[in-house]
Amino acid sequence: MTEQRVLILDFGGQYDQLIARRVRECRVYCEVHPWTMTLEEIRAYGPDGIIFTGGPHSVYEPGAPDVDPGVFSLGVPILGICYGCQLLAARLGGQVVPAEEDSAREYGKTDTNFDVSSPLFRDLPEQSVTWMSHGDYMARAPEGFRLIAWSAACPNAAIGDDARRFYGVQFHPEVRHTEQGTEILRRFLYDVCGLRGDWSMGGYRDRAVRELRERIGQGRVLLALSGGVDSSVCAALLSEAVGAQLTCVFVDHGLMRKDEGDQVEAAFRDREANFIRVNAADRFLGRLAGVRQPERKRKIIGEEFIRVFEEESRKLGRMDYLAQGTIYPDVIESGLGSAAVIKSHHNVGGLPEHVDFREIVEPLRLLFKDEVRQLGRELGLPEELVSRQPFPGPGLAIRIIGPVTRKKLAILREADAVFREELAAAGLAGAAAQYFAALTNMRTVGVMGDGRSYDYAVALRAVETEDFMTADWVRLPYELLDRVSRRIVNQVPGVNRVLYDVTSKPPATVEYE
Ligand code: XMP
Repeated sequence: MTEQRVLILDFGGQYDQLIARRVRECRVYCEVHPWTMTLEEIRAYGPDGIIFTGGPHSVYEPGAPDVDPGVFSLGVPILGICYGCQLLAARLGGQVVPAEEDSAREYGKTDTNFDVSSPLFRDLPEQSVTWMSHGDYMARAPEGFRLIAWSAACPNAAIGDDARRFYGVQFHPEVRHTEQGTEILRRFLYDVCGLRGDWSMGGYRDRAVRELRERIGQGRVLLALSGGVDSSVCAALLSEAVGAQLTCVFVDHGLMRKDEGDQVEAAFRDREANFIRVNAADRFLGRLAGVRQPERKRKIIGEEFIRVFEEESRKLGRMDYLAQGTIYPDVIESGLGSAAVIKSHHNVGGLPEHVDFREIVEPLRLLFKDEVRQLGRELGLPEELVSRQPFPGPGLAIRIIGPVTRKKLAILREADAVFREELAAAGLAGAAAQYFAALTNMRTVGVMGDGRSYDYAVALRAVETEDFMTADWVRLPYELLDRVSRRIVNQVPGVNRVLYDVTSKPPATVEYE
């Protein structure tokens, strides 16, 4: 059975990634491609449905993003969203004009009426809220189209031509504020395009393995494994595809959390690939000795990482491929269709300059983060690796204020482990996007037993966030904080005070340095 697929033509809208996610949530495979895709390329892709996204332009601007008119003769259903809707209307003979202030210019939640006899809205409520964000509007629908949704300010909120299976919506069905948004997309995919919705991660895995085998042949592949979700899943996928032709180099900088290095090793030791763990803690700690400035720490760790990785890879001889755990958001964000995006492995440095390889392979470049996790489970990676929270490349070095020492690392590892353990035991791990302990450089007076102590204060941080650009602190229950505080002070020598961070970002950042 051939794989069914939707093409999302990207006109630069801010929600384009969301459209792709929603389509895949409906279990339909899709890819986002730039609007500059040629008709031949579109034909070669073989879409079963096409979605035009929104975008910041106006269709009547000179040089505005456009499509080859041939796309309307492919016999493939099209859904235009916002700019995509206006483009559809304008190219098929309708009229699009700038909306007058206070008339059809709409932003935000809008009560919208639907003609539920249209296949796009069948069996949905006749009225619901949609999310609008447009400054232009369709003054006249093209011939063959009928009006299928309207709002107080906008008489043409959606149009449809059932015969050609072309639909346009001014609102954004991919945004959660549009109450029936997913249902509308579902109707487009299943009812209009006739798709089965049988895409699964198992199927994706099989195809990815097949394609990697074809591409790599007998070649040798080198991967820098950091233990993060992306590089781990990338390694597991490649080891399944090409086995011993893959070599993973795991540079353990000694700045990971408790037992983390061993977990990574355990997950990969028994796979067919070659796994090299470089215990480089001495080198990293040596170079970090006495360093206080956060940016200096980051730079040192980044440089040292590359140096160690290069030394190891030199021993391995020439490689055909360097594998990278680049994922779809990185690809989309850095401009579609541009040259390969090179994600700095380990998130700390750049790409090693002196590693000898022919090409880059990025087997996750079409997957979203949660899909990467799903693929990891599919490949049998342990849950602690697959659901790992984001962890900065420079590791605990930027959670220890001031100079990093072995002693401080040991204190922080234990305190952090207690916090994570208790949060998980309370069933609250899912409530925070990131949670950890940091070691302040502050020592304070305390009483322990009959004596005076003068030990470190540990700070606990738990934040919720969508995108890590802004974040709020999690209102953890006092009982939990109490338990964590008691355990840390009792079990971790060198700590006599525990603080909980109640600052949002901004003004604070997530990390301490
Ligand atoms: P901040 O502290 O900037 O953190 O609010 C936002 C997110 O970025 C992560 N972070 C880093 N990740 N290298 C990384 O790979 C770094 O140097 C670094 N600094 C911050 C942080 O963990 C959070 O998820």
